[in-house]
Amino acid sequence: MKRKDQRISENDLLGKTYLVTGGNSGIGYEAIRNFASRGARVILVCRSKEKGREALENIKLETGNDSLFLYIADFSSLISVNRFAKKISKDFSKIDVLCNNVGGANAIRMVTGEGFEMTFVTNHLSGFLLTKMLLPLLSISTNEEPARVIFTSSYGHAHSPLNFDDLELRNGYSSLRAYGRSKLMNLLTAREFSLRCQRENIVFSSFHPGAVRTPIWSKGGSASRFIGFVLFPFLINVKRGSDTFIWLASSQDQRALEADGQYFFKRKRARVATHATTAASSKLWDLTEKLVEPFAE
Ligand SMILES: NC(=O)c1ccc[n+]([C@@H]2O[C@H](COP(=O)([O-])OP(=O)(O)OC[C@H]3O[C@@H](n4cnc5c(N)ncnc54)[C@H](OP(=O)(O)O)[C@@H]3O)[C@@H](O)[C@H]2O)c1
Repeated sequence: MKRKDQRISENDLLGKTYLVTGGNSGIGYEAIRNFASRGARVILVCRSKEKGREALENIKLETGNDSLFLYIADFSSLISVNRFAKKISKDFSKIDVLCNNVGGANAIRMVTGEGFEMTFVTNHLSGFLLTKMLLPLLSISTNEEPARVIFTSSYGHAHSPLNFDDLELRNGYSSLRAYGRSKLMNLLTAREFSLRCQRENIVFSSFHPGAVRTPIWSKGGSASRFIGFVLFPFLINVKRGSDTFIWLASSQDQRALEADGQYFFKRKRARVATHATTAASSKLWDLTEKLVEPFAE
């Protein structure tokens, strides 16, 4: 068996701390594998202790990197995200890269105990709250290069304009509409953070991974399962699906280091839907801030 230090291919991320949400499977898992193999300290957060442990053990075994840490948080609960953010702030002195990657779809409209539509809180509000609460840790990233925050968005944003009178789809709910909207929110949030945090040394971005063969297709009910089934032969593997993710999170390429809040696909700035306006970003920010405020203390 190879010695541990020989199994880490390049150590170019040594000394950096990565936090990846939803990293127990899919493209998040693949990204963690990559960061760990390059020597980064990685924090994996997921909702299932069993799945998280298994993912972490596999990655430790494969990369020989022991600096991997598991935290449990349920992103459908802002109380849970708040607790997690506080714990991270106590346990770590800095975060260099935050990857807001948790995401999913829900077949039927559900409202959480905290009063939010499930997809809205899990895919959007939680990542927003987490990023806000970790800004101090990102700002003091002591490496010479900027800290980075990446939001996993989707081309699905293009089909689902926001209706600010009914952000949580009390009327006309469908799994795909709720999902698409939340992915639009990811894109708008990255842009707005970038605008509002210009004095911080943090680069924000969002991206579309492509249509990727991951467990997500089996989790969103029959519509999602059907689309996953039809698309199955055309879905790309997680290695390709995580390429832009990893590039935005770790590349020295100036285009990644100067992402400027923009939305990427295949390592290039990509066109966004016409409804992804700056007015929409700003309005969404104001509404989101109000909603998460009671959970930010
Ligand atoms: N696959 C695609 O074609 C595609 C295309 C565009 C965008 N995306 C985006 O890519 C991201 C990753 O998805 P994936 O395709 O890699 O699928 P995945 O393997 O299902 O990953 C989703 C991750 O989010 C976690 N998650 C979901 N709800 C959560 C909650 N309430 N609390 C904590 N964690 C939660 C999942 O945990 P569990 O394992 O416990 O469910 C899993 O770790 C998502 O944001 C998705 O919207 C995917």
